Order: sequence, then structure tokens, then C-alpha cells
Amino acid sequence: MFIRYSDELIEEIRINNDIVDVVSEYVRLEKRGKNYFGLCPFHREKTPSFSVEDVKQIFYCFGCGKGGNVFQFITLAEKIDFIDAVRHLADRAKIELPESDDAEEVARARQKQQVSEINLLAARYYNDVFNSDKGTVARDYLKRRDISVSTAKKFGLGYSPDQWDSLYEHLKASGSNDELMLKSGLIQKSAKGQLYDRFRGRLMFPIFDVRGLVIGFGGRVLDDSLPKYMNSPETVVYNKGKHLYALNFAKNADSEKLVVVEGYMDVISLYQSGINNVVASLGTALTESQGRLLKKYAQEIVISYDSDKAGQAATQRGLDLLNSIGCNVKVLTVPDGKDPDGFIRKSGPDSFKRLIEGSLTLIEYKIRVLRQGHDLSTTDGKIAFLNKAALVLAKVDNAVEREMYIKKLSAEYEISEEAMLSEVLRRTRRSSASSGKSLKIANAVEAARKSAAPVDEVQEKILQSERFILSLLCVDNSIYPVLKEHFKVNEITGDENKRIAQIIYTKLNERKDFTPAELMNVVSSQEAGEFARVLKEECHCDDNSKAVLGKIKEIGILKAERRQKQVLELLRNTENLSKGDVDKLKLELRDLILKIKNMKDMPI
Ligand code: CTP
Ligand code: MN
Repeated sequence: MFIRYSDELIEEIRINNDIVDVVSEYVRLEKRGKNYFGLCPFHREKTPSFSVEDVKQIFYCFGCGKGGNVFQFITLAEKIDFIDAVRHLADRAKIELPESDDAEEVARARQKQQVSEINLLAARYYNDVFNSDKGTVARDYLKRRDISVSTAKKFGLGYSPDQWDSLYEHLKASGSNDELMLKSGLIQKSAKGQLYDRFRGRLMFPIFDVRGLVIGFGGRVLDDSLPKYMNSPETVVYNKGKHLYALNFAKNADSEKLVVVEGYMDVISLYQSGINNVVASLGTALTESQGRLLKKYAQEIVISYDSDKAGQAATQRGLDLLNSIGCNVKVLTVPDGKDPDGFIRKSGPDSFKRLIEGSLTLIEYKIRVLRQGHDLSTTDGKIAFLNKAALVLAKVDNAVEREMYIKKLSAEYEISEEAMLSEVLRRTRRSSASSGKSLKIANAVEAARKSAAPVDEVQEKILQSERFILSLLCVDNSIYPVLKEHFKVNEITGDENKRIAQIIYTKLNERKDFTPAELMNVVSSQEAGEFARVLKEECHCDDNSKAVLGKIKEIGILKAERRQKQVLELLRNTENLSKGDVDKLKLELRDLILKIKNMKDMPI
């Protein structure tokens, strides 16, 4: 459900959640001067560099650079998005949130809630059955697989009785109506119109979303019959391509890695052995939304699928997908064709942790797969392998990285480093020379990139100065008239800064005030930490008007110098320019030189 809350409401919620109180629920704080300090909850540290400021109502960690107001704190601490943080804190402050005025939206939200309730009722029911006499078969089955009672409890495991309509009767008795039961997918309708349970005689795995709500189920038979698993169908609350099993637990694991396995049982078994940074893709090939979820919660993703043909293909696809959305991804191969559950039961958690540590990068994995397809004991096999491996390595853009792989591979497969290098180089040249046109374009882009690097630096400096000006304006609203005059919204370079300025100016124009914490309501989550840093480290000036005017001057000079550089660049290569253009450029250059000199000479 998407509702856009008004800025006023968001601000009311913020004001009613004092940041020191809220943070204190997560971190032990000690007062030092006007700041509170504690151990940062967002990175590992032994001495406190995490600060909370009462007056500005912001936090900032001098160690990891995370910062913001109480909303950003909750997004990070609870790993939820901004809107959910708003809801969370509204709840904490007992502020009622408005419902949407779109009738369809309200109806959909209501249906989602009702289906969620049915899911929860069902989860409780299956769990009760599991713990009753009827559930003995399921408990015995888990015992045979060495899953403890407490692990089963943690994952809310259950048992669906081997009867046609026990859940249906239970739900009816609890007051659910038929239509909603059908919507939940847990109840089905026969051709004759009779309602009956989807899951019968199965070990039940509730599937939770990131927040821990039950959104669906997987059910496993207790013997070798088929199908081994049945799952909830897609419903208003369950879309299997958008969720990852056990992410609600794994997101709280104390690790920057997430391990992705295939099965429910793999997750549960690893978790029981103390490896809790693990999720399962719900019996499908990884989707892009799952990839993005993973990226949100982990720095590094380790894929650990079965090593059979199907598993290998799924691994390749998963790797390419994750790689394409910019994830740092590796592959863990469990030896002897075992799945993670089988391996850890036999070899123990430490061995599995070593497998995680030793997981392969994308390139290493590709080469390993190639290797398996060739017989390296024959010369022909070795040559064929070398050729294909060189092709893979030639695609690595970074020369240093490429060389590192060549070193490693030549050692591992006993191929001379020189031979390997020359094969790879031959292919890098061939692949880039194969089309003259693309080579030219590539060169042009490369040249543009080279000349753009310093320009980027200038741009970053300008953006920084703009952030400083906007931050200082929030600390001291009295400098607004100066800024209205000399720092107009349409002259601001950064789109993000422009948007923020528009909001602040509008408020100040209405003679309202605007505080640093309010600034944090409107900055993007990527830039919150940066703004918090500027507020903490730079916004202590003797004369605030003078400070912003100084920055405005600095921005002016930077922009003029950047243009000067561009013009000089253009004039260096005049053969493509008309005489008129050249004259114009020369005139502009003269003006720029004068302008820069004037600006530098002018006192603020
Ligand atoms: N799966 C499915 N439907 C099937 C088979 C598998 O949805 N008919 C999904 C399930 O999510 C399952 C995962 O694919 O957890 C991996 O399958 P598998 O390795 O066969 O299952 P495990 O969870 O390892 O179960 P077990 O160890 O009990 O065989
Ligand atoms: Mn298994």
C-alpha cells in the first residue's frame, strides 16, 4: 500500500520521537558535552565514535559515516525503508496515520490484511497439530534429520493433517469466510464445488516476509512420494519471485555476507549449526527483485546451489543476474555432490565456514566449470582449456585484476604464466579490434572519461559546497535573505540539492522555520550520512552570512574554471570548427579569464 504522508505529518512524527530516547532503545549512550556517545550499531568498533546530538536531533558516526535524523536511524537499525520507519515511529508516538482516500487501494490493503490473518491462523493451526499426537509422524521425521525441537520452533514448522478439510473446518470455526480462504490459496475448490485443503499430510514451512509476516507456505511429504514439495500459489500477499526464505532472520545476522541456498531444509540445517546468514530462493531461479533484496542486505552474496547439472545452470544464471545488478557475488561449491544440509551434518559448521571463506569469484568459477569439461592430462585437452580460459580472462577489464587471475591460474593448472598471458593478450586485442567502429567509439569514450575525471572532481566539490550552504541555512535560518539573493534555486547544480533547496526556500518564504533534523526528512537515504557529517563537522562558523558568501564565491570560481578548461580543450583542436566558432570561443575565454581574476580579487 502506498500512501504519501504530508511533510507536516512526517515532521510531527519526528518531533514526537526524541532521537536520544529512540537511539537509547538500541545503544547505550553517555553524555559528553552537548553530544551523546556510544558504540556504533552499524559497524564494529571498540571505542565509541557514534554521536547523537540533542539540539540538532541528528546522529552521526565518525567511524562509518552513517548519519541522519531519527527516521534514518530506524531505517538502518530495523533494516526497513523510509515509509516503514515513518509508520514505525508513528506507532511508537501513538500518532494515527490517515488511510488512503483511494477506495480501490483501501480495499486491496484490507484484503491483504485479511489474507495475512488467515495465513497466521493457518500457521498456528499447523504448529498446534505438529505439537499434538497427530504430529508425531512429523516430529519423528525431523528427529531423523537431526532437527531439534527448538529449531523447529524458531522456524514455526508445522504439520498439515492427512485429511481433506481439517484446516478448512478450523478456519471456518474461527470465523473466516470462504471467499477469503480461497484467496489465501490454502483452500481449494473441487469441480463439484467442495472446499478442501491444499496441504495434506505434509511438514509445513511457513514463509515469512522481511518483516516476519507469514505470507505463504511450503509443504514437504514425509516419505519419497511426489511431488516432494508443494507451495502456496501466488496470492495478494505472496509472490515467490519477490521474497527470500529466512531473510527475516538472516538480515539480523552479524555478517556482511549472505549465503543463498536452494532449499528450506538447507537453511534450517545451517541455521541450527550457527550459520544464520543464509536464505533460500523459493524453488525458482533467482529473480531480479530477489537480487535487489540481497543487495540491500549484504555486501557480498555467496551462491551455494547443488552441484548437479540443474544446480550448475542455476548458479550460472544467478551469478550473471547478480553481477549485472552490481552485486559482489561468489560461488560456494559443496564437495562430493552434497547439498549444504548433507555436508554440514557430516562435516560440521567449521568446515562449512571454510567453504564460505574459500568461495570462488565469478571468473574463478567460470574457469573451474571449463576445467571440468576438459581432460588436462592430454596435451589437446590442455590447449583447448587454455584457449577457452583465455577467452574468459580477456573479458576482465581491469588489467591488474586480469594479471592476478593469470598468476593464480597458471600456478593452479601448471601452465606457464607467459604462455597464458600472451594468449589472453592476443584475445583482448582481437576482441577489441574485431570491429573498427566499436573500437573508435570505445576510444572516444575512453578519452572522454579521462578528460572527465578532473571535471567530476570539480563537480563533487561544487555539490559539497552546495550541501554546506543548505545545511548551514537549516542551522541558521536568518541567513535566508542572503541566500535568496545570491544562491537562487535555478543556479544550483545538483538536482538533489536543487530539490532540497526548493523545499527549504518554500518553507522559509512562508515565514516558517526549518531545522537540521527536518532537512533529514527530505534528503535521499544515500546522502543522509553526508549531510549529517557536514552538519556535525563544518557548520560551526563565526559569521554564517560570510561563510555562505565565501562558499558561493568558491562555487562561482570552480564553475568558471571548469568552463575555461573546456574552452581551452575545444580550441586545442580547431580543425572541426568554423572560423566564427573559433572567434566566439576566444572571446569567451577572454571573458572567463577576466571573470575569474575579478572573483578571486573581490573580498567577500
Ligand atoms: N522445491 C519446490 N517444489 C519441488 C521441489 C523443490 O518448490 N517439487 C523447492 C523447495 O523450496 C525446496 C527447494 O526447491 O526447498 C530445493 O529442493 P530440494 O533440494 O529438493 O529440497 P530440500 O529443501 O533440500 O529438501 P530435502 O533435503 O528434504 O530433500
Ligand atoms: Mn536437501
